[in-house]
Amino acid sequence: MVARRGKLIVFEGCDRSGKSTQCAKLTDRLRKEGHKAELLKFPDRTTSIGLIINNYLANKEDQSDEVIHLLFSANRWECMQKMTNLLLGGNNLVIDRYAYSGIAYSAAKGMDLNWCRQPDVGLIKPDKVIYMTLSENKASERADFGEERYEKKEFQAKVEKIFEQLHDPSYWQVVNGDGSIDEVHQDIFSAVSEVLSADCGPLQKLWT
Ligand code: TMP
Ligand code: MG
Repeated sequence: MVARRGKLIVFEGCDRSGKSTQCAKLTDRLRKEGHKAELLKFPDRTTSIGLIINNYLANKEDQSDEVIHLLFSANRWECMQKMTNLLLGGNNLVIDRYAYSGIAYSAAKGMDLNWCRQPDVGLIKPDKVIYMTLSENKASERADFGEERYEKKEFQAKVEKIFEQLHDPSYWQVVNGDGSIDEVHQDIFSAVSEVLSADCGPLQKLWT
């Protein structure tokens, strides 16, 4: 019998919304409950493309808006074979940011949303997107806010507007990140438990 494929769970949201903390907590919990689970994050700053992205975010290097957009997308494409293998091997994947961040941050600069979507068409489609919201003041109060290129209140408000445009209720779940770490985790865990027990069929391609 062929093993059941793993599920692709993507976390999205503005900077400092608590995604990384919750991704780690979810991955731990899934493992404790006997599921195979791996945690990945985009941008993956460890590859040669990721290094250029890291320098751009740290304001050490400039790139045109188009070039950096395509590099963020390429950084996902270079991981597709590994993700496919893990999922088909029965591993659940928890991913900190994906194509929706790619579109939201670029379109928030004024770039055309449809143009921004194109390079990511055909990536593996998530089974669930956990979209974390946070009140504006809470985000800017969190540690290290403001260190990287996009961490400015006005810009984050624009990013949030685009995320709202991308929101697809057929597979997105909005989670309010204002509560305590444990409260937020509980909300996320119940949403994810439903997906894990569902039969989601074969892997699908995003926006095709
Ligand atoms: P991080 O804070 O999750 O490491 O992400 C780094 C920054 O890069 C964050 O401000 C969001 C932004 N970003 C994009 O602009 N495009 C993308 O495709 C991704 C994945 C992140
Ligand atoms: Mg960040």
